[in-house]
Amino acid sequence: MNLRAEFPALRLRRLRQSPALRRLVAETRLSVEQLVLPLFARAGRKLRRPVGAMPGVSQFSPDEIVKEAERAHRAGVPAVLLFGIPETKDNKASQAYARNGIVQQTVRRLKKELPDLLLITDVCLCGYMEHGHCGIVQRDSKGARVLNDPTLQLLAATAASHAEAGADIVAPSDMMDGRVAGIRKALDAAGFARVPIMSYAAKMASAFYGPFREAAGSTPQFGDRQSYQMQATNADEAMKEIRLDMDEGADIILVKPALPCLDLIRRAKQEVGSPLAAYQVSGEYAMIKAAAARGMLDEQRAMWETLYAIRRAGADIVLSYFAPCAAEQLT
Ligand code: PBG
Repeated sequence: MNLRAEFPALRLRRLRQSPALRRLVAETRLSVEQLVLPLFARAGRKLRRPVGAMPGVSQFSPDEIVKEAERAHRAGVPAVLLFGIPETKDNKASQAYARNGIVQQTVRRLKKELPDLLLITDVCLCGYMEHGHCGIVQRDSKGARVLNDPTLQLLAATAASHAEAGADIVAPSDMMDGRVAGIRKALDAAGFARVPIMSYAAKMASAFYGPFREAAGSTPQFGDRQSYQMQATNADEAMKEIRLDMDEGADIILVKPALPCLDLIRRAKQEVGSPLAAYQVSGEYAMIKAAAARGMLDEQRAMWETLYAIRRAGADIVLSYFAPCAAEQLT
């Protein structure tokens, strides 16, 4: 009798002998249908402006974004998340809800040319505000504060204008209190009761948004976002934020960043169910790209390992700048 056969580790190892066997017994699967590609739109024609810290990611004019979206869509990516870089900024984020704002224009164009592609629009004001904060700022003798309630109206107007342009899902990322309810009310009133809300419900104040702020031109001109984004120390609070958003009518819950929040993804999946999305943000992408470019790690393996970790934690939907690259290999 072969005693080694009774050795449990060997029994497990038996199933790891070939790629096909490993795939057969994989507990976690990633389907191309679960991927969402974030894209940055800016005014112009034939414009592709690379984002320095994010090799492979660019800001695109609407005509070019169509090509980029088409490429991803052809590889099987079902949805894109749109961010806009406006030509002008002010202190009431006028271009965020302008009928002909950059996101609105891009949505119309994409809907026309790629009718089957799902369009998710990021609803936030930071990229449209001169000061770069996610809400209306009041300055007084004590300094500057972001005003929650007056901001809600602008967010609601922004979401409604995205839906009007043809957005399939709106995704508020600002973290103001009450914005999901406000947006739901505005969408219903404008005849868009069927447009779902994907809420960035648990959004940590994170260093990993760094490259995004270059990509979207939304770096705060003073202070930081710690008064309205969550602190990394608090998981119970994150669950509370998620429950509040669900009570207000969020249809899809989003956690971000992804890798530093795998525990939150897991807890959210267990405690609230609901379609759950996780966003592998700019810094997570940049970190892998930068390390790989210096020969410090294998980019492809790091990509798969992180994407599977996010799925394994419990995310149903994965937003990632790696989406086209992963999709091309998944299909
Ligand atoms: C806007 C917003 C941010 C991201 C998504 N929406 C930046 C921030 O909150 O500072 C980050 C996405 C990324 O880093 O890829 N509020």
